[in-house]
Amino acid sequence: MIPHDTIDTIIQTARIEEVIGDYVNLRRRGVNQIGLCPFHNEKTPSFTVSPAKGIYKCFGCGKAGNSVNFIMEHEHFSYPEALKYLARKYNIEIEEEEQTPEQLQELNEKESLYNLNLFAQQYFSKMLTDSEEGKAIGLSYFKERGMRDDMVNKFQLGFSPVKWDAFSEHAIQQGYKKEFLVKTGLSIEKDARLFDRFHGRVMFPIHSASGRVIGFGGRILGNDKTHAKYVNSPECDIYNKSKTLYGIYFAKNAIISRDSCLLVEGYTDVISMHQAGIENVVASSGTSLTHDQVRMIQRYTSNISILYDGDPAGIKASFRGIDMIVEQGMNVKIVLFPDGEDPDSYARKHHPTEVEAFIAANSVNFILFKTRLLLGETQNDPIKKAALIKEIVNTIALIPDGISRSVYVKECSVLMTISEQVLMNELNKILRAKIKKGSPELGQELEVIPPDQPVSEPQLDIDHDSAEYQEKEIVRMLLLYGQEVIHIKLNPADEEEVPVGVADYVVHDITHDEMAFENLLYKSIYDEYVEGVEKDAIPDRNRFLSHSNHEISSLAVNLVFTPYELSENWFKNNIMVTTEETRLQMHVMLALHAFKARKLDKMMTEVRRKLSDATSPEEQGVLMKKFQALKKTSIQINKDGLGRIITR
Ligand code: CTP
Ligand code: MN
Repeated sequence: MIPHDTIDTIIQTARIEEVIGDYVNLRRRGVNQIGLCPFHNEKTPSFTVSPAKGIYKCFGCGKAGNSVNFIMEHEHFSYPEALKYLARKYNIEIEEEEQTPEQLQELNEKESLYNLNLFAQQYFSKMLTDSEEGKAIGLSYFKERGMRDDMVNKFQLGFSPVKWDAFSEHAIQQGYKKEFLVKTGLSIEKDARLFDRFHGRVMFPIHSASGRVIGFGGRILGNDKTHAKYVNSPECDIYNKSKTLYGIYFAKNAIISRDSCLLVEGYTDVISMHQAGIENVVASSGTSLTHDQVRMIQRYTSNISILYDGDPAGIKASFRGIDMIVEQGMNVKIVLFPDGEDPDSYARKHHPTEVEAFIAANSVNFILFKTRLLLGETQNDPIKKAALIKEIVNTIALIPDGISRSVYVKECSVLMTISEQVLMNELNKILRAKIKKGSPELGQELEVIPPDQPVSEPQLDIDHDSAEYQEKEIVRMLLLYGQEVIHIKLNPADEEEVPVGVADYVVHDITHDEMAFENLLYKSIYDEYVEGVEKDAIPDRNRFLSHSNHEISSLAVNLVFTPYELSENWFKNNIMVTTEETRLQMHVMLALHAFKARKLDKMMTEVRRKLSDATSPEEQGVLMKKFQALKKTSIQINKDGLGRIITR
């Protein structure tokens, strides 16, 4: 067991922003830091870290805790495992107290796998640089490929001797258990004997994002076609291929600082790029990216460039996979290398500045790349062209961000020499079908389509200026974004923006201005949010979608599934808003603004009517005062306009 003082030391030393910073790209936001939550899929940061308090909280999924909880949650570690991880990170020595054999076993299963992999990595490295055999065939192989010593060291490259069981025998001798040798896949058991999986290969250790060795790739020396070029570790408790990116540990910081991630195919591509000074690079290890791998990258950046060797058939085959990356909200670019070159060979033949320049000059947005490539094949055949339009629009429809969608519609219409209107109609058809089909994601209904082309069928019976319409919009916003977080200045003079939940903000703002709902159905939903804000438990929209009151549930379903209509305000006001969070913020402001303006109008009309009926001067005086107060508020609201709407 870990002694209590040691636990205290660990918790006091581990700085939450540093611990989490290894996994999440954190940005300063006032006294806090924020980033994309690693525990749920989001595109707008609601994961907040408070260095002062030593805690984190995600306003999206509700996960919260201190650095130990974070490591437990994120790495699926037990409590002692998490403490040990932090102790290692901060060089705190743990003198463990006696443990029962059962405790040891339970604690050590995963740790044993890590330990064994570390032991193996050190062994392979030593074999590469210190053994005659390793130097003669392993190291010379790397040298021949132009690999520098500092790269060999950095990536902890190694060599596994040719002898069938050299490593297994050594490991057993050193007291490592057969069970773990087999589990990590370092050894293969056959007829009660252990053989080395990787014998006679140069070794590429695979690291987790936090830098621990979780597996290996072993390459044969030379071009012997009778053996598989690479042998890789099988999956085990600590190595899950679809959740791993080769090089992520070494690339993390560069991905964050350059706000971009380069994706290559293989181990050697990653290393050669590093050697050329380009460090924001990871490899998918020969397969197309998985959802989990994209999410991993998304924690650090939303820009990904895929580096291809020049084979059009291979690229075409990967289009579907890239669609999935687009759908996850990433900006995808394609960099095509000259025929016969991959990033590794190109980087070895060119000066680092040339590599950098080549990538910069040859990055093409995926959608435009796809359009161009497929367009080249249609050769003015109208049927093929119609199919192409469908294909491209299908991809555009996957982009969660409305503004980007309309940008691509524009650009593709030029490329394909086809009117924007035709593409837009096609796009709207797909979007409409999608919205009908399922619960729209955030952003899906933040539609930005010019006002003359609404996504929805025109709803003639709606008076957009009615107070009821504004109430509906407030309720819809709460249902869609109530649990999201926006950042606002509490006072216009403040420098600092603070994170607030949308529901929190809306409820406080409306309550502050003493505005009431008239429509009882909307009011009943709104009131649940008021209660939620008071109790610090914002209702999930599912509560309303499946509400026991049928009127409420069908109203909620309708509100959530119809596309957003306020977007035209952005055009009216000539606002070009960029990030999704800014748009949500704007969206909240506009809805509140419209809501209050409408209420005030109505109240003023009411007072005016009473005024014209009023007979006594006292009564008239009171009403005049009231009218002036309302007028003042109304002016204030309109003056603040799109800034923070305050009437205080
Ligand atoms: N790969 C694999 N098994 C194979 C071939 C490839 O696991 N039999 C994976 C490896 O992760 C490899 C990646 O696919 O790094 C890309 O394959 P390839 O381009 O053939 O290998 P390179 O990394 O380019 O290796 P080299 O330059 O040494 O040929
Ligand atoms: Mn290669």
